[in-house]
Amino acid sequence: MPDRTQEFFKLIYNTEPEHTAFAPGRIEFIGNHTDYNGGLVMGAAVTEGITVSVSRREDREIHLISDGAEPVNLKLDDLAPIQGPASWTNYPVGVTKVMQDMGVEMPVGYNIAVTTTLPSGAGMSSSAAFELATALALGAIYGHKTDKIGLARIGKKAENDFVGMPCGILDQGVSAFGEVDSLVSIDCATDVFGTTKMPKDTHFWIFNSNKKHALVDSAYADRHKECHDALALLQKTFPSATTLSDISREQLDASKEALGDLLYRRASHIVGENDRVRAVKVALASGDLQAVGDALNASHESSRVNFENSVEQLDVLAELLMQQPNMYGARLTGGGFGGAVMAFTNAEFDQRQAEQVAAAYEKKCGLAATIIHTRAGKGARSL
Ligand code: GLA
Repeated sequence: MPDRTQEFFKLIYNTEPEHTAFAPGRIEFIGNHTDYNGGLVMGAAVTEGITVSVSRREDREIHLISDGAEPVNLKLDDLAPIQGPASWTNYPVGVTKVMQDMGVEMPVGYNIAVTTTLPSGAGMSSSAAFELATALALGAIYGHKTDKIGLARIGKKAENDFVGMPCGILDQGVSAFGEVDSLVSIDCATDVFGTTKMPKDTHFWIFNSNKKHALVDSAYADRHKECHDALALLQKTFPSATTLSDISREQLDASKEALGDLLYRRASHIVGENDRVRAVKVALASGDLQAVGDALNASHESSRVNFENSVEQLDVLAELLMQQPNMYGARLTGGGFGGAVMAFTNAEFDQRQAEQVAAAYEKKCGLAATIIHTRAGKGARSL
């Protein structure tokens, strides 16, 4: 049975698409802002995501249409980032540019139609999903085969160089490597990926705060720079450290004065997050789910106090969730400065309880949260 995206493609372009691909969004489970600091992170691909259908054209144009936006036509030989309402096209176009730069031959342009089941701005990385689905589909029509890591790297490069967001590999890596009911772990120093089955009867609930932070990209870039500045200072004493993740807690604490309060707290978040990822792995292996939850809660607290990438709305949601029965732990998920809180629960936590949390949140913050009860699903794939 043709899927919704294929139907949409046919309706717009009057022909069957040559190829259709899907890539999921992701949850960041633990390991906040560690990815671009050479650290450890665990996430999960979700069942929601982005589907693209594509076909080659006969000329050298790219025609793009998405179910919620105006159509956009571009020239294959003149691709540059754009601003304003059509900026959603930067993700597939960035991927196209990266593939061109890699030497993938594109003798003609393409038509693309996009649909999503992933709420945008929910902190579940619809951008990485869009990049990976596009990379898979374009790879198929232009004859370029890529493995999972290659796919993730194309998406990250599009994001870094074309969109201009200095993110690490987390979003694209998890979207590529996701497995059903599994957590994906990444060692970002070596780009080694692994998967672990989620403990039985555990669940993810996402609470989108619906607090949009206008400065999200610049705030992210500021944190990126602060981590870089902290590393440069630490390298004066520890020259063999190539990333903040090479620094131990003892080394960091011995450098408190040299770093100053702000950079100390930023680096402390990264060092602490790496330690928490290690602790979570141990706790998962021994089935100690409360220890997993405690690490999630501690991660949120460190975001609040050290990295300052939380906001009041995320703190309120996390705190309300942490007090709930049937709850292991809760923390902001993803970049922060708005977006979503993830709750890790047992099977008893239910919609009614989730709605009570949302009601209490609305009373306190005046915003309606969106509740998404999701599962860990399979990574990017052709349909
Ligand atoms: C965003 C980025 C990721 C990662 C997280 C924070 O999702 O895209 O690369 O840095 O923030 O952990």
